[in-house]
Amino acid sequence: MSNNNIQSILQETRIFEPSDEFIAQANIKATDVALMKQKAEEDYTGFWGDLAKEHIDWQTPFTTILDDSKAPHYQWFSDGRLNVSYNCLDRHIADKGDKTAIIFEGEPGDIRKISYKELLADVSQFANALKAQGVGKGDRVIIYLPMVAEGVVAMQACARIGAIHSVVFGGFSAEALKDRANDAEAKIIITADGGNRGGKPVELKKAVDAALDAGCPSVEKVIVLQRTNHGVDMQEGRDIWWHDAINGQSTECEPEWVDAEHPLFLLYTSGSTGKPKGIQHSSAGYLLQAIITNKWVFDQKASDTFWCTADIGWITGHTYVAYGPLALGTTQLIYEGAPTVPDSGRFWKICQDHQVSIFYTAPTAIRALMRFGDDVPNSYDLSKLRLLGTVGEPINPEAWMWYHNVIGQEKCPIMDTWWQTETGGHMIAPLPGITALKPGSCTHALPGIIADVVDKEGNSIENANEGGFLVIKKPFPSMLRTIWNDDSRYAETYWPMFDGKYYLAGDSAYIDEDGYFWIMGRIDDVLNVSGHRLGTMEVESALVAHPSVTEAAVVGKPHEVKGEAIVAFITCKGDRPTGDKADKMIEELRAWVAKEIGPIAKPDDIRFADGLPKTRSGKIMRRLLRAIAKGEEITQDTSTLENEAVVEQLQGKA
Ligand code: WT7
Repeated sequence: MSNNNIQSILQETRIFEPSDEFIAQANIKATDVALMKQKAEEDYTGFWGDLAKEHIDWQTPFTTILDDSKAPHYQWFSDGRLNVSYNCLDRHIADKGDKTAIIFEGEPGDIRKISYKELLADVSQFANALKAQGVGKGDRVIIYLPMVAEGVVAMQACARIGAIHSVVFGGFSAEALKDRANDAEAKIIITADGGNRGGKPVELKKAVDAALDAGCPSVEKVIVLQRTNHGVDMQEGRDIWWHDAINGQSTECEPEWVDAEHPLFLLYTSGSTGKPKGIQHSSAGYLLQAIITNKWVFDQKASDTFWCTADIGWITGHTYVAYGPLALGTTQLIYEGAPTVPDSGRFWKICQDHQVSIFYTAPTAIRALMRFGDDVPNSYDLSKLRLLGTVGEPINPEAWMWYHNVIGQEKCPIMDTWWQTETGGHMIAPLPGITALKPGSCTHALPGIIADVVDKEGNSIENANEGGFLVIKKPFPSMLRTIWNDDSRYAETYWPMFDGKYYLAGDSAYIDEDGYFWIMGRIDDVLNVSGHRLGTMEVESALVAHPSVTEAAVVGKPHEVKGEAIVAFITCKGDRPTGDKADKMIEELRAWVAKEIGPIAKPDDIRFADGLPKTRSGKIMRRLLRAIAKGEEITQDTSTLENEAVVEQLQGKA
């Protein structure tokens, strides 16, 4: 076996076929997909052109489909003009004006239903308020709000007037907010006094004040939504309440027609090193993937209530909350708070109370809720659920089975969706009613997405189950256009290999004998143990399959003989093991990994903590863990950690 490519060590053999019942009603049929794939093969740009005509309402139709003259800054539908907010709102009013667009539930239990007609009025009025504050086409607007319906209103209002929003997750610090506002040279910040999370207010306005005190020279105004009412300082001349800003503004606002390539938004994502990257998305290409994936992968229909639990601070909350479901005219649910307030049944109670039929969340949330036991979800009526989804990391088979059996009651297909902030929408994901599912695999690339796994020369890896670089071999409409203000970083990050021909996702993956994709980890995180290259995600997946383990992260540390040794950081169910109990557990876990995937993957060092250091988006802070594994001083910013004590526990100091 070659030691060059990354080796796969996990085996999963269960297969779940779609039910006849699901197949009969699915939005997309196997015959459609066969035709689409054929069309994409014979006439790639024609395939995308047809979809863009079918799914988007254009003010000026496009005549050019793909312009690659500025590659790798590919342009799609570039002489067409549209407005994204028009496509999400206005076009539904004639036949769906009174339909509920958003059901909002606050953490304290307040509920508000907003129809499409009302949402259009709210968006238009707020768009007029933004204009009155001097915001125009192309201006950057920071949105730093809790997960409330007004977040979607603010995003849609920007889209309506051609302003470029950049949503900053409400859990980020003043420092992070300042960096993003300055990089984007934002003119205005939209925030709230606070948000409700975990039973207490999140101090959003205070963070904005601190960021502006530290220096955001471009920011002229701050619009403040009153949400928690807990009393905040307002600076005369700079800060204005949301309700005052909209007061007297018309509830009608003509959409600003923009070019297809006009930037719809920036979204900052932290790279593994260096400063955050302002991922820049287009209007039309982005919208198209948002529409087709909500329709195909989530099978959204007029009768559904869709709930994506992601915050609007992440790309998932853009494509599967703020834009996609609205563009399809779906009813969706938005929940403000934590999944465990007042208790660990909150998500399931919301599903029951609002008759949620499609539910999309992250594996880490599933594992966290799973540890409270089956009785919690079993005490709610989840019978309306008909489809489930996951995103963010591979879902370990144990969590997949729990999601399938307990939440989905064995009748809901699970869509494991692989994509990235950069791709704007799902890339590799099952099609419900068509794809047979394998727990832990994101299955196949969607029609029109030419994904592959290649070696470092760019050749397809022919052997089944042999790992390599995950690439997308043709430009696609929803791909990022650049990194804001940094074209060279864009080229270096995403097109560094293969003569710039393929988009490099940065993940390692393999394709199995049935053509299924399995994500193994980030390329930067690959372990090299005695000449075997192993993906971190697989070792982690094996560890979390142990009945006592909730979360696991593995990193490498230099080892004289093996090259790298594996260090595992673990959170257990119940209390953190210490002393003899910890020693016993370590032996058990080493034996477990040896049995699950083989002795080469056995961790040399295992440490327990009450939690793992994760970014607010749930990504494990691997650089921090690598430093801990090597016993180095901590230089990373740990201020965003929910529990800073875990760092000391992992260092063995507590
Ligand atoms: C990275 C992108 C896409 C929205 C949420 C995260 C990992 C994402 C999966 C999946 C395995 C996954 C990849 C990817 N990832 N989905 N279904 N299976 N890994 O967005 O912060 O841009 O992260 O998340 O490593 O590259 P993001």
